[in-house]
Amino acid sequence: MFRRNKILVKKKTYVKKFRQERYKNKVMTKINFTVNNNNHQVEVEDSLRLIDVLRDHLGLTGTKEGCGVGECGACTVIMDGAAICSCLVLAGQLNGTQIETIENIEKDQVLSKLQQLFLEHGAVQCGFCTPGMLMSTKALLDVNPHPSEDEVKEALEGNLCRCTGYIPILNAIKAAAQ
Ligand code: FES
Ligand code: FES
Repeated sequence: MFRRNKILVKKKTYVKKFRQERYKNKVMTKINFTVNNNNHQVEVEDSLRLIDVLRDHLGLTGTKEGCGVGECGACTVIMDGAAICSCLVLAGQLNGTQIETIENIEKDQVLSKLQQLFLEHGAVQCGFCTPGMLMSTKALLDVNPHPSEDEVKEALEGNLCRCTGYIPILNAIKAAAQ
């Protein structure tokens, strides 16, 4: 028993030292930014991506990670009014920015009109692409409430969906744009 305790203490000390070493080598950055109209100050590794800061540091797990390399659009959020891939933005670029995530779309547990229309038109199946689709759509409708079909297609060209065949998504957005 005594021996086991000794080993445990050794192990804990080793882990603590290992963590301290890792922490020492990290470049940390302080970010002061706004997420969903709330100010946040966090200190994180500057090599972290926006999606990591949102999910792991702010608990906003509605933003999904698909490819991690800017190809699928699953991680789309709105940054300073534009739809961007949160897997491509580094923490060091976030100071002073305004971010909007999928968590800001629903209000008081009531779905937004856009979310409701996605449901009504069968534009949500597995749902993995949906937060990104909604954020790209919102970024478009915020500046252009009545887009043409071509404008919708252009705005969503970076968002992939493996389930719906896109037509239900287009129909939902057309209904929202009427
Ligand atoms: S996870 Fe960011 S674009 Fe695919
Ligand atoms: S609903 Fe499954 S990927 Fe779009």
